[in-house]
Order: sequence, then C-alpha cells, then structure tokens
Amino acid sequence: MTTEFYYLNGQFLPSEETKIQVSDLGLLRGYGIFDFFRSINGKPIFLNDHLDRFENSAQILGLKIPDRREKLKEIINELIRLNPYRLLGIKMILTGGFSPDGYTPALESNLIMIARPFIFKDPLKAIKLMSLEYQREIPEVKTLNYTIPIKMLPSMHAIGASDFIYHYNGLITESSRSNIFIVKNKKLFTPKSGFLAGVTRKHLIQACKRIIEVEERDITLKETLNADEVISTSSTQRVLAISQIDARVYNEGSIGPIAKKLQEILLQEEH
Ligand SMILES: Cc1ncc(COP(=O)(O)O)c(C=O)c1O
Repeated sequence: MTTEFYYLNGQFLPSEETKIQVSDLGLLRGYGIFDFFRSINGKPIFLNDHLDRFENSAQILGLKIPDRREKLKEIINELIRLNPYRLLGIKMILTGGFSPDGYTPALESNLIMIARPFIFKDPLKAIKLMSLEYQREIPEVKTLNYTIPIKMLPSMHAIGASDFIYHYNGLITESSRSNIFIVKNKKLFTPKSGFLAGVTRKHLIQACKRIIEVEERDITLKETLNADEVISTSSTQRVLAISQIDARVYNEGSIGPIAKKLQEILLQEEH
C-alpha cells in the first residue's frame, strides 16, 4: 500500500505519523475551519477560489493563517508531488491551536493539510435527498461543524437517501456538502442567502449564463418539490442530478437534460 503524506505546522509526514495534541481547540470546542479542493493530474482545480474562501473563513472567525498565499501554494504543490495520484482530494484545516485552558484560543493556529486519493460518483446516476429543517451556524464560513447531518445519517440511510436538502423558514439553502439549483420552465434558480458560497456554484453560474437564464433568489421548499429538475454542485461531486426528494420523484428517477448540459459546461470550465 502506498503511504499518503500529510502536512502539519511546517512538516510533511506519513499519514499515520501525523498526530495532534488533544488540547487542540478544533477538537475540544469545534473552533476551526477547513476547505477542500481536488487536484487532477497534478493540477489543483479552482485553487485561488478555495484559498479566497479559506482566508475569508479564517478572517470571519478571527483565526490567523500562519502562512501567506504564496507559501500555502508551495505547501500544496509539495503535497501533490508527495502524493502522485491522478485524482487527489486536498483538505486544508485551520484550528484555534493548542489551548492553554481548553477554551481560550492559542496565539498560533494549527494548520493541517490532508491529501487523499478519491473517485468521483457516477455522474449519470441521479441521487436521492432527504429534506431536513436546519440552518447552519455562520453559513458563509466553512466551519468544522457538521454535527446535525452526521447525527442524522442513520435516518437518511433508512430511506435510501444519500444527502440532505436543508430548508429553514420555508426556504431551501443548500445540501450538507453541496449547493442546490432548481430548473423550472427551462430557467435555472439558486438560493441567494443562507448557504456556503460554493466554488462549483460560482463557476457554473458564470459559465452557464451563455446558454440558460440563471437567477439567484429565495426558493421555497414547495417550489423545489414542484421543479422540473433539481441539481446539486460541489467540488467532490461536480454536478449531480437529484432523482428524488422525500416522496417526490424527478425525471422518473434519472438524470434530466439541463443537469446533463451543466455537467458538460463544468467540465469545460475545469480545463
Ligand atoms: C455546507 C456546504 N455547502 C456547499 C458546499 C459546496 O462548495 P464547493 O462547490 O466549493 O465544494 C460545501 C462543500 O464544500 C459545503 O460543505
């Protein structure tokens, strides 16, 4: 088995030797952020967007990234060199550091990077979602807190769903790890607030404007259930069609025409 190499506070280490003290505030209080992107054939995808978001998340939470952007890019390039997989997923994590009393942030944050090979889900296979009334805390920040969707995994699996669609006060926001678009009368709509600004979402909106009208606005759960197609976007899964939300089935359970088109558009953007 090939060893994977990770990064921790200035050192590149084999994954099994990358260990952190238990006084880390990410572990003790969930105080921390992360970001995730893919590297394909050694090329990080939309890296500047992910670094923008990582820096923005850190700033909002008052965390200090120990390195400037150029240095972060050097670390990432070295990680890619040490982990020569065609498809590599890189997770950058920043925590409140080793707390002196289990609550107060340390003067220095801990910067961790995990690099692991991954495979995409079959893009032609539409997935089922379970609706969940929930609003993430500080939704514009990619925090370490995924407690509610993880706690709800058994209920989700029990109905054969593979992710959630969050709604709050009647409006949909996002999925647990992806953004949501709906299609109605050949027009594309996506929520305008209450979610993490996905990098995939941003690129798709920019690129698809040439071929389809897209509007960012409030979207009700009711409207979503009445939509012609529902689509999710994320760095891990690119563009996936939604086959079903709760009891409502779309396109007889298979991928719709707009979802297919958006998949092609995103692939072009990545190159
Ligand atoms: C809560 C949440 N929303 C949306 C996304 C999709 O963002 P991206 O397209 O940048 O992967 C993610 C995944 O990063 C997420 O965790």
